Amino acid sequence: MNFRGLRFHIVALILFRGRLCSSFNNRPNCHASKTLSSTSLHAISTNDGFITITRSNGSRHQLSYRIARPMALSSRQAAPIVTLHGGPSLPSSYLYPLEKVLPYRSIVYYDQLGCGKSDEPNDVSLYSIEDSVHDLKQLIKHLGVRRFHLYGHSYGGILAFEYMKAVASEKKENDVECLSAVLSSAPSDIPQLEKEFVRLTGKLTAADGTLSAEELNELFRVNYQCRLDAMPEELAYAYANAGTVWSGTNAIANYVARPPPEDATRMPSALITRGEFDFVSEDSVQGWKRTFNHKFLRFRTLEGCSHHGLYENGSLYGEIVDSYVTEYD
Ligand SMILES: *[C@@H]1O[C@H](CO)[C@@H](O)[C@H](O)[C@H]1NC(C)=O
Ligand SMILES: *[C@@H]1O[C@H](CO)[C@@H](O)[C@H](O)[C@H]1NC(C)=O
Repeated sequence: MNFRGLRFHIVALILFRGRLCSSFNNRPNCHASKTLSSTSLHAISTNDGFITITRSNGSRHQLSYRIARPMALSSRQAAPIVTLHGGPSLPSSYLYPLEKVLPYRSIVYYDQLGCGKSDEPNDVSLYSIEDSVHDLKQLIKHLGVRRFHLYGHSYGGILAFEYMKAVASEKKENDVECLSAVLSSAPSDIPQLEKEFVRLTGKLTAADGTLSAEELNELFRVNYQCRLDAMPEELAYAYANAGTVWSGTNAIANYVARPPPEDATRMPSALITRGEFDFVSEDSVQGWKRTFNHKFLRFRTLEGCSHHGLYENGSLYGEIVDSYVTEYD
């Protein structure tokens, strides 16, 4: 097995460009998608639309958003959750099951530039973490969200961190308040994650040296990415419809999270979660301890889950996110 050839796949995996295989029949843990659909007996109202964001040189782009339970957007009892999808290239639709496992609250989704229904300009210089933070600020302002929790999955967790760091670094009175954050399966160090990927792949090939690349991908998927027999429809759709420009950039290949400057204001408290079998390993998330300017971080490992706990065990996932953000309403 040629490991060098596999290395590019780490970017592919964290950036979710891994190939998908549709079934693998020997896993016991396959009931999560049923749990999700059985909780969605009542239709949840949504408000979908586009906002225009303006970049520093004046170029304008449309971003697509969706608000579940829009009537609760300004609730004082249960603040909305603004969600940041992973990739950076997946459409936000793979996070929609959140609204089925999180009661009452408004949930805001949007497709980052280059993803889903948002514009996908071809110029790679338009894609960076810094620009994405700027876009997020505009989105929050445009939607009139004043108090909110931030949730980021995988790369979205990196973006959540960078948003909070940018706001804390500005040190100015802000008319919007981020109450807390959930970083779900978010690595703090991409080069470290790449090593993790090589280690995990090595474990699989050591156990069976005859695996084809497809078999290896599928084994990786079912062990460390989504431990269900078949890839859930929403997730398969998201992977199949990932953006192509942003994921083609090297913008996050060398990303290592760094703390804000010493004189920054206090960042929001955060919950850091990962799945027990997640390729985003314990070491991949421990780095967050050094990057927040306070000690109010909580770590939680989701038993039996890997990278997509929302699909693998939706009720557990929802309960953990909901009970955390409720503390900070
Ligand atoms: C979800 O997690 C809970 C708590 O660990 C566990 O009792 C339950 O069996 C899990 N459900 C699934 C479908 O794995
Ligand atoms: C702004 O910069 C981007 C990236 O360099 C470029 O594609 C775009 O044409 C510029 N827009 C304007 C209005 O200058």
